[in-house]
Amino acid sequence: MPIPDIIIAIDGYSSTGKSSFAKLIAGKLGFLYLDSGALYRAVTLFALDNGMIYRGVIDEPALRKALKVLKVSFKPSAESGKYHACMNGKNVERRIRTLRVSEYVSNVAELPFVRSYVDNILHSYGKKGRIVMDGRDIGTAVFPYADLKIFMVAEQKIRAGRRLREMEEKGEKATLDEVLDNLKERDERDSSRTVHPLSKADDAIVLDNSYMTMDDEMDWLEGILRERWPQK
Ligand code: DC
Repeated sequence: MPIPDIIIAIDGYSSTGKSSFAKLIAGKLGFLYLDSGALYRAVTLFALDNGMIYRGVIDEPALRKALKVLKVSFKPSAESGKYHACMNGKNVERRIRTLRVSEYVSNVAELPFVRSYVDNILHSYGKKGRIVMDGRDIGTAVFPYADLKIFMVAEQKIRAGRRLREMEEKGEKATLDEVLDNLKERDERDSSRTVHPLSKADDAIVLDNSYMTMDDEMDWLEGILRERWPQK
């Protein structure tokens, strides 16, 4: 399907399947997939590695100073060609996905100077279009001019079930109630922070995938693309 060099912004709650959907869309259109959360995770990893988070408290002045020289970026992997997060030139994709990073990333992502640091990097990848980026504020703050904005939602219990299955596959143990509590806390945190909270852009299309398969989601997308960019 010939599509112009557009930016597709995908936002939504945790465990709504944003990254899986974004990756499929990017693959289908031959676009670049970028996971904005990976950069917040890389900054968090850096702060943890350098003793800037102690007993849950972030040393904000030290982190602010360090960000002036820290280089966080996306780079294509030699094997797969897929883009991964790098910190000072090193691939940190695996290290940013640990529970330790997940525990602190929301607090780090709340800091206004961290948000503007990450936003600057994200903007640099949007100049030529042809990207699918997912996150919490892509359609509202990072690329408010994105050509297509999708806001993903799903019932909380269904999201908790998906998250639990992912954790079980990685050998992590938890109950559905624990996962549900954590999800509620993250929903609340992401939606209520003062800088760039998670919220639907006025011109975003809502996709509720509670009872959809990936194939259903791709059919849904195809309908939207045909409607917006009809083939001549
Ligand atoms: O998508 P994720 O769980 O990897 O995101 C990690 C954290 O970063 C999560 O707490 C939400 C935050 N985040 C954000 O505030 N804005 C974004 N655009 C992307 C992620």
